[in-house]
Amino acid sequence: MKPLKYIIVGVGGWGGYWCRQVLPRLAEIGKAVPIAAVDKSESALSDVRSNLGLQSDRLYSRADEAFDNHQADFAIVVVPPASHESIVDLALAHDMDVLSEKPIADSIEACCRIYHKVRSSGKKMAVTMSHRFDRDKQTLEHLIQSGEYGPLNYIIGRFTNNCRAFASWGEFRHRIPDPLLIEGTVHHFDIFRSLTGSNAKTVYAKTWNPPWGEYAGDSTGLITMEMMNGVSCFYEGAKANASTMNGWTDEYFRAECRDGTLELDRRIVRLLRGGPSSAPVAEIKPLLERPVWMNPWIAEQFCDWLNGGPPPATQLEDNIQCAALLFAAIESAHTGQAVDVQRYLDRALLHSA
Ligand SMILES: NC(=O)c1ccc[n+]([C@@H]2O[C@H](COP(=O)([O-])OP(=O)(O)OC[C@H]3O[C@@H](n4cnc5c(N)ncnc54)[C@H](O)[C@@H]3O)[C@@H](O)[C@H]2O)c1
Repeated sequence: MKPLKYIIVGVGGWGGYWCRQVLPRLAEIGKAVPIAAVDKSESALSDVRSNLGLQSDRLYSRADEAFDNHQADFAIVVVPPASHESIVDLALAHDMDVLSEKPIADSIEACCRIYHKVRSSGKKMAVTMSHRFDRDKQTLEHLIQSGEYGPLNYIIGRFTNNCRAFASWGEFRHRIPDPLLIEGTVHHFDIFRSLTGSNAKTVYAKTWNPPWGEYAGDSTGLITMEMMNGVSCFYEGAKANASTMNGWTDEYFRAECRDGTLELDRRIVRLLRGGPSSAPVAEIKPLLERPVWMNPWIAEQFCDWLNGGPPPATQLEDNIQCAALLFAAIESAHTGQAVDVQRYLDRALLHSA
């Protein structure tokens, strides 16, 4: 099969990771090759020359010019969430599928508009929920879903960091509203969905920014969720703590199953069992094996989908549930009330139709 062609929009920041670690592999395995790259920043574009082997006439500072000048099969969107919708619009107008960074967009209204536009265009879109597809999270999910430890009762998650100084978590995150939820917790919401095997029923979020956090929006939160299958979840997220206990890729999740406590802490998965007063006996569980994880794996699944393979777990149809949980949590944080996630999504989809 001939490699697919793509235009990537956003090659600085996280887009730099795409260009160094995700896209060269897609070309190596013959799945997809670049046709053009776009970034507002000159310096970001100059790095891409060596990483993607694109000549100057394939590098653009404006997305519309790149899309008008080159026909590709799909667009890769790695710009901040507030710009996702305009790039998706351009891709659809040029008859292209879309692989976008998370979240779908920066508001539930924009997410729902994108959802309707993609559906009515007949094109395909998926969202890169990188951390759910990391090796340690997939191992925990596999152990829970194996059924070997009985039914799942509840899950605890923790993501705590010392990124309190301005720009220590990328400049734009220190300026936007609700940075913890929009830019961090969205991944953990998706992990809770995959570990429980369910969408969310209700969410209650309390978020704030401590005086020492150099953020315009809320950097800290405590969140409870009830999933549609009855499993309860509790989450602690913080970007302005005095230490990084469980940062990116090192998050903590503990799944309490009837016949075993499955704990993931800083990439080590342990099974714990014990009696009423003895210390639990711990057994380290081996991590799953596969060639690649996170974005390289997600990008490969996306190309296979475009070539007639099965839809990936992060297709828009499913990922809208992750967006619903994210923005329902933000609504809860702003109103102080628990939010019915499914009713919230139904209403938003109806209003944006
Ligand atoms: N999956 C993950 O683990 C992960 C990690 C980091 C970031 N992200 C996501 O990646 C996206 C980008 O985040 P980032 O950290 O790279 O942001 P960033 O601000 O560090 O970089 C964004 C890049 O896009 C360029 N850009 C911005 N708007 C543009 C536009 N309209 N046209 C062309 N270029 C434009 C900027 O010049 C910059 O080079 C966000 O959606 C973010 O949530 C995902």
